[in-house]
Amino acid sequence: MRSTRRALTAVVSAAALLVASACGSGDDDESRATTVEVFTWWAEGGEKAGLDALVARFAADCAGQTFENGVVAGGAGINAKQVLDARLRQNDPPDTFQVHAGAELLDRIDAGQVADLTAAFDSWGLREALPDGLVEGLTVNGKIYSVPAGVHRANVVWTNDQVLSDAGILLPPKSLAEFVGNLKRLRAAGVESPLALGRDWTQLMLLEAVLLSELGPQRFTGLFTGTTPWTGTVVTKAIKDYGTILEYSNADRDSLDWPQAQRLLIDGKAGYQLMGDWAAAELTANSFAGYDTFVFPGNGTAFQWLADSFTLTTGAANPDGATCWLRTVASAPGQQAFNARKGSIPARTDAPTEGFTDYQIATAADWKSGLPVPSCAHGSACSQPWQNAANAALGAFSTSGDAGVLQSALAAAAKQFIRRQ
Ligand code: BGC
Repeated sequence: MRSTRRALTAVVSAAALLVASACGSGDDDESRATTVEVFTWWAEGGEKAGLDALVARFAADCAGQTFENGVVAGGAGINAKQVLDARLRQNDPPDTFQVHAGAELLDRIDAGQVADLTAAFDSWGLREALPDGLVEGLTVNGKIYSVPAGVHRANVVWTNDQVLSDAGILLPPKSLAEFVGNLKRLRAAGVESPLALGRDWTQLMLLEAVLLSELGPQRFTGLFTGTTPWTGTVVTKAIKDYGTILEYSNADRDSLDWPQAQRLLIDGKAGYQLMGDWAAAELTANSFAGYDTFVFPGNGTAFQWLADSFTLTTGAANPDGATCWLRTVASAPGQQAFNARKGSIPARTDAPTEGFTDYQIATAADWKSGLPVPSCAHGSACSQPWQNAANAALGAFSTSGDAGVLQSALAAAAKQFIRRQ
């Protein structure tokens, strides 16, 4: 299948994109591939449920096209991104791949691996349908290279209410200090690992949440734009507090992906987990309803956002089919179907909210009223090499506990990669 595709590989021109925006218009061209390989890391549980909903819409919208599941499991694309790198290097691209809106795509744009989607984006009315800030986040040198499907919030804490109430904790903590106090209290009550945590990138999420509490939204964002130094004393204090929180997490954190860490919460072995709101769909997939959520203590109204988006690869074997996929992703019914299952909220402001949970409705309101801040762990704040360096630094700290080394490594990564934003 892939070799047939490679034989058909051609660079997609802007003209081809416009033609392709009338889905299926090239069906009479017998030489054109009709399979669309969609590359994601949504392999199971709530993530797969979201993908399946999108695939069903695609089948209805794009007659004559067949979905091919190019999926590589691993939270936040930790494995998929490596496989994608190798495939792009070997000139074996999928037709479209999942990416986060924002800085994460910069290197692929520079390398000419993704097509300019500006014309299609405009013809589908996305410039009007998406919030201005998101359009800004998607724009690189005046052009758009990806189409967002939905927006997730990263800075959310998920609870096991039974575990908390057994320890006498009945209210969400209002500050970082109170949160640490609750972790201590849980441990004293016999919960060995009060905070469920996973590997490197989930640790980066936790550090980001602590930094956000201590720096506030503006200075936090400045860490990624160059206006806030990573060498400052507030960052030093945040790393110290992060280290304290880490002591209350499970010792096997470095070997767990986020659903395995979530399992600790479900099984009553932990009271809290910080995780993006894809956690909700996974909890539902595991039939667990005994939880609550709150924004990470001290984050105020900061809405740490990330947007799952799709690209068109320049080497796509089936650009027409892939563009039809993107049109489904961009459409209001596509976003309703996808987000209702995935736990995110539509990127479009005009998508129906039918089938959404109370949490999603409240989050959509927060997205409108809150202060948007980006995420490095999920690509809206920093480029892929920066993200990799930060993940590696956090993974190392998890073993060594050396705060000075962590701060130097994070400062060095910022220095090396900040010019690319
Ligand atoms: C993605 C989400 C996904 C999560 C865990 C994030 O980076 O944006 O769609 O559910 O990773 O895999």
